[in-house]
Amino acid sequence: MTAVLEVTGLTKRFVREDKATVALRDFNLSIEEGTFVTILGRSGCGKSTMLNLLSGLTKPSAGTVSYRGAPHTGPTVDIGYLTQSDTLMPWRDVLRNVQMPLELQGVDPEEQRRQALHLIDRVGLAGFEASYPRELSGGMRRRASLARMLAGGASTVLMDEPFGALDAQLRNELQEELLRLWNGSGSTIVFVTHDIEEALLLGDRVVVLGPLGTILRDEQIDLPRPRSVDETRVDPGFVRLHRELAAALKEGAAA
Ligand SMILES: Nc1ncnc2c1ncn2[C@@H]1O[C@H](COP(=O)(O)OP(=O)(O)O)[C@@H](O)[C@H]1O
Ligand SMILES: [Mg+2]
Repeated sequence: MTAVLEVTGLTKRFVREDKATVALRDFNLSIEEGTFVTILGRSGCGKSTMLNLLSGLTKPSAGTVSYRGAPHTGPTVDIGYLTQSDTLMPWRDVLRNVQMPLELQGVDPEEQRRQALHLIDRVGLAGFEASYPRELSGGMRRRASLARMLAGGASTVLMDEPFGALDAQLRNELQEELLRLWNGSGSTIVFVTHDIEEALLLGDRVVVLGPLGTILRDEQIDLPRPRSVDETRVDPGFVRLHRELAAALKEGAAA
């Protein structure tokens, strides 16, 4: 196995008005190609800070992030990033939002349209191509954002609590959809969540973070795939891991 993303000695300090906040301290992580890695941690432990660094959007205060063996120099189209907040363009309908990455890559307009329609269908938004973001529910906007990110064709995908604000039913539907889309694609996914169940349901591996991005646990998740929410939830292995990770999070917070 080869590492797609390799992080060594990563530290991120924010300075504002002479006051420094350390968000990550001496963080090390290696992500293998084609794997689905979930990063689990409580609010404020540095998850978004870490994804920003992995994407190349921000620079570390110390340490390096390497992508396919070369240190980051900035964002690359090869890494897709679905941020925590919605970034759909309000003046574009769903089709034109999803087409955008293809437009930027100079893809032929007919081909843009064909690929975008296919992705819109895959995320379950067929029939809403001409709708504007304001006309969609929160879940539909997330689907559209997902389709737009996939349109970029990135082989590595970073997702920051993408389903966090959705109701449980919809969240489960999108989780299963994401697994279907990922399955067999060969792409690498780094998925950040504060939800233990979500982390276990999706990941090949769960990395549990404590304060300042300390790694509390790093577990291989060998639950059978394909995973359905209903079946996985009652799997004895799942129940045991859920208990262990909950305890790790609790201990980490107390330390
Ligand atoms: N731009 C910033 N300026 C100052 N402090 C920040 C900034 N971004 C994040 N932080 C601080 O870094 C810590 C980690 O934040 P974040 O990475 O957003 O955590 P998480 O995503 O796990 O909730 C928090 O204490 C937060 O207040
Ligand atoms: Mg965050």
